[in-house]
Amino acid sequence: MRGAFFTKDKSKTDAIISASMLASDLARLSDELTRVENAGIEWLHIDVMDGVFVDNITYGNNVVKALRPISKLFFDTHLMVHDPTRLIPLFAKAGSDMLTIHLESEGDAAANLSEIRRLGMQSGLSVKPDTPIERVYPLLPYCDMVLVMTVEPGYGGQSFRKECIEKVRRLRDHCNENNIDIKIEVDGGINADTAKIAKQAGANVLVAGTYLFGAKDMSDAAYRLR
Ligand code: DX5
Ligand code: ZN
Repeated sequence: MRGAFFTKDKSKTDAIISASMLASDLARLSDELTRVENAGIEWLHIDVMDGVFVDNITYGNNVVKALRPISKLFFDTHLMVHDPTRLIPLFAKAGSDMLTIHLESEGDAAANLSEIRRLGMQSGLSVKPDTPIERVYPLLPYCDMVLVMTVEPGYGGQSFRKECIEKVRRLRDHCNENNIDIKIEVDGGINADTAKIAKQAGANVLVAGTYLFGAKDMSDAAYRLR
């Protein structure tokens, strides 16, 4: 699997880093992806915004398709869209490795997550800061990952909302108690300090945009996150 060769060398306790493309220089995307790979980062976080679920519009399946042949990074695709259902096959075809939908989006979440897996991708389910984490529990059998947003979705560069960490802790406890093996990802305002808080609570995938792309030395910044 793509990205797997990066994780082999690392100890089990190391978190996976997912570099958020939103903070990259979009005019030089190909170079930016090389920079991420050279920093030893495993995943690329691709924020898809439709201007309806959130205010902004970013990029879609055509950009994933264009980047796929030039990169071995694991494409961690975060759909912030009103209606994800009909987009699922488009991202499968484009080459996404993980497809995360929002619990707050339209459609049947269980059916969508099953379809994501059926098409060969890993399935992710995300919750906004004000959505109770308990709402994902019945859907965990359909999820490879839960993305706990630590900012309101829609913009990069916001401050980490510390109160969201309690949700990570409750979810990790629930998974441990019920023998559920799942990835927990945090997204928004992640830097060396907030990464530590998130990992302690049970997160094992860390999305970082501003912190990584704004760093003088991306490898060093990635090391600090881990
Ligand atoms: C926000 C996006 C994030 C964003 C994180 O809606 O989901 O992935 O890029 O950016 P930073 O790391 O700058 O907070
Ligand atoms: Zn995101």
